[in-house]
Amino acid sequence: MQFTEAMFARHMRDINGSAIREIFKLLAKPGMISFAGGNPSMSALEPEVISELSGEVLAKYGATLLQYGATDGFGPFRESAAEFLRGDGVRCEAADILPVQGGSQAFDLLLKALVDPGDVVLCESPTFLGAIQAMREYNARLVDIPTDENGVIVEAAEALIREHRPKLMYVIPTFQNPTGITLALERRKALAALASKYGVVIAEDDPYRDLRYTGEALPPIQSFDEEGWVVYMSSFSKYISPGMRLGAAAVRNPLLLRKMVIGKQSVDVHSPLLNQAIVDAYLRKGLMADHLRRICGDYRVQLNAMLDAFSFFPAGAAHTVPQGGLFVWAELPEGVDAMRVFERAVEQNVAFVPGTHFYPDGGHANTLRLNFSMSDVPTIREGMARLGKVIAETADGRTV
Ligand SMILES: Cc1ncc(COP(=O)(O)O)c(C=O)c1O
Repeated sequence: MQFTEAMFARHMRDINGSAIREIFKLLAKPGMISFAGGNPSMSALEPEVISELSGEVLAKYGATLLQYGATDGFGPFRESAAEFLRGDGVRCEAADILPVQGGSQAFDLLLKALVDPGDVVLCESPTFLGAIQAMREYNARLVDIPTDENGVIVEAAEALIREHRPKLMYVIPTFQNPTGITLALERRKALAALASKYGVVIAEDDPYRDLRYTGEALPPIQSFDEEGWVVYMSSFSKYISPGMRLGAAAVRNPLLLRKMVIGKQSVDVHSPLLNQAIVDAYLRKGLMADHLRRICGDYRVQLNAMLDAFSFFPAGAAHTVPQGGLFVWAELPEGVDAMRVFERAVEQNVAFVPGTHFYPDGGHANTLRLNFSMSDVPTIREGMARLGKVIAETADGRTV
């Protein structure tokens, strides 16, 4: 007997894994300049601090951190995470916090709790690849909400809600992945109002919020939500460490929180206690503010270097000017295929993610996402210069 594709569950058959993971395989090539990933810079990670805190929490809590724990989470972490999120304007108490294995898991648990096969989920277009994959795995029908330079267009969202009556809407309001765009204040209020008017849960995915380099912070959508329709999903991946796989969801609807807890029980029982205790100690010692100041200072310089280096791109290319986060989004002149540019760019040792991957229905062949956090300034300039040349040559139909 042979194992065939037909043996897979239907919802896994057409899913081949994130395009980014395929692109990552190419990045191992020596000398490759990568604008492809979305990782924090290596210098943002603090192995000595984490090692010291690990020793401290193990000395304090002993073997209990190595034992099974409650799915709802480690009490002290729920308290400190709630306080941290309140500092960002999120309405929550410790009892509303579910520690999760990264923001990804919070969204997965929401899908698991709410979505039946064929249910419509509204999402931005383009949107986060991991979220597209998760929605597909639950057989959701993805319907895009039109967006502009200020994020989701509220009137369009309302029309789609009336048409499809969805249970769930997925929004990345701050320094969106992949575009870097931030949802305007009035729209945040309006989306919260739509959620309670129509009874739609909004999954507010906000892992980049505190990576702000210019401009004023805006309150989360969740802060305008009186009734508990907005689930706020935060993560320590981009702030402290993606490898520790720790995030916090603030879920003010107790029924929904209970279902998410039940959904988590069967997946991983609970998020690792040791990591919850380490991040709890990190927050209680007040290390976050200085850390964010340092990494935002570095990222600001890298972002500016990338924005300046668009001077290497040919006329007719446009790009976003994000106030934070890890990505810049570019649109090439109409008719220039970013997949073709990608193939040629990889030959020239520079990589990015073609924008088409971020659209649930593909298309938008002339778009691309560029990450700046993994490269220093000279590398950013060199990579953008190479890329600009490849784009110009691809646009002219010349070979490199
Ligand atoms: C918008 C968005 N949401 C969620 C995640 C997942 O992050 P994690 O599961 O590590 O918290 C990412 C990671 O790139 C992201 O860009």
